[in-house]
Amino acid sequence: MNIKQTEEQYFMKTYKRADLIVKKAKNQFIWDTSGKKYLDFFSGISVCNLGHSHPAVIKAAKKQLNDFAHISNLYYAPSQIELGKELIKKGFGKRVFFSNSGAEANECAIKIARKRGLENGGRYEIISFKKSFHGRTLAALAATGQEKFHAPFKPMIEKFVFADFNDIESVKNLISDKTCAIMAEVIQGEGGIAAANAEFLKGLRQICDENNLLLIFDEIQCGMGRTGKFYAFQNFDIKPDIATLAKSLANGLPLAATIAQEKAEDIFHYGDHGSTFGGNPVSCAAALAVLKTMDAKFLNNVLKMSKYLREQLAQLAKKHNCIKEILGIGLMLGIALDKNGKDIVGACLKKGLIINCVQDTIIRLLPPLTITNKDADAAVKILDEVLNQ
Ligand SMILES: Cc1ncc(COP(=O)(O)O)c(C=O)c1O
Repeated sequence: MNIKQTEEQYFMKTYKRADLIVKKAKNQFIWDTSGKKYLDFFSGISVCNLGHSHPAVIKAAKKQLNDFAHISNLYYAPSQIELGKELIKKGFGKRVFFSNSGAEANECAIKIARKRGLENGGRYEIISFKKSFHGRTLAALAATGQEKFHAPFKPMIEKFVFADFNDIESVKNLISDKTCAIMAEVIQGEGGIAAANAEFLKGLRQICDENNLLLIFDEIQCGMGRTGKFYAFQNFDIKPDIATLAKSLANGLPLAATIAQEKAEDIFHYGDHGSTFGGNPVSCAAALAVLKTMDAKFLNNVLKMSKYLREQLAQLAKKHNCIKEILGIGLMLGIALDKNGKDIVGACLKKGLIINCVQDTIIRLLPPLTITNKDADAAVKILDEVLNQ
């Protein structure tokens, strides 16, 4: 039985995998089992932001694995403690909780918001946004503003209500005496590479301050340097009360963080929350290498590459009428089409370019943050060829 048949027989049908069996990945490239080379403009959904198999990450993880892999959170693992400190030094938050996945980081944020709200006047409602995506566990799913994900699992966990993204009036209309928090992605990823505007984010901060609500930013896809700042919200002059990170935190190893400012840092007490694997020492050692690599020079290069890639995409848009708009910030970019993008993704894969499509019509580009002009040119050339077909 080959790999595809084995998967077909033994796996739950949760994933629709593309025709690519991976043998190896290095930097911005992936090789399949036949030896064919692909340019990766997806980074495993913004997970390998430093590129695949980054040497500093491998070295740090290997060293930690040699020392010990796991001791439980009943004891101190130096790599985990060090990572907590380094994360806070990235310019946001007072305290951190480590878990394993984006959904878990958001669950933690939701629990903090609930506990604080319940202790302050029995409040438990959270305002989230239409087209948002916050994960697949039940509370993170309930926070996700897309009916198609809710339908098979109703009733949803109470109580999330959904405002229109970038529409501050629609948020105000949902505030009640039960509201405890507002939760948003700074750039909606699965929702179609929709960036929040500065006025809207400022409005959210103001509403939260006036109503004693927590502002939670899900930075799981848009954070970790993807926009040219460590956190996407650092592009705007505002801070949330809680930020969640996952995906690229350990550049390919599972790790997530919920980071809290003053209003949210001391809500949990002993026994309120926990995780067996959360803050795994190997993942934390890898993440320390990520944070060290992601310095100001690295982030500046993201902005430089973003500018270059956007310019090339703008040229592409001039040539192809089916391109309506180039979306996003930094290297979290979307090509909005006037038609379904699924076939384009498939045709690019055949030509050796890995990209993705969200909301049917938006091509999503999430390249490693280490790409060069040459990579950008190669990707745009393939897109051009495919769009010509
Ligand atoms: C913005 C956002 N939040 C949360 C998640 C869930 O993360 P995970 O799949 O690690 O649970 C994702 C995953 O795509 C995401 O993009």
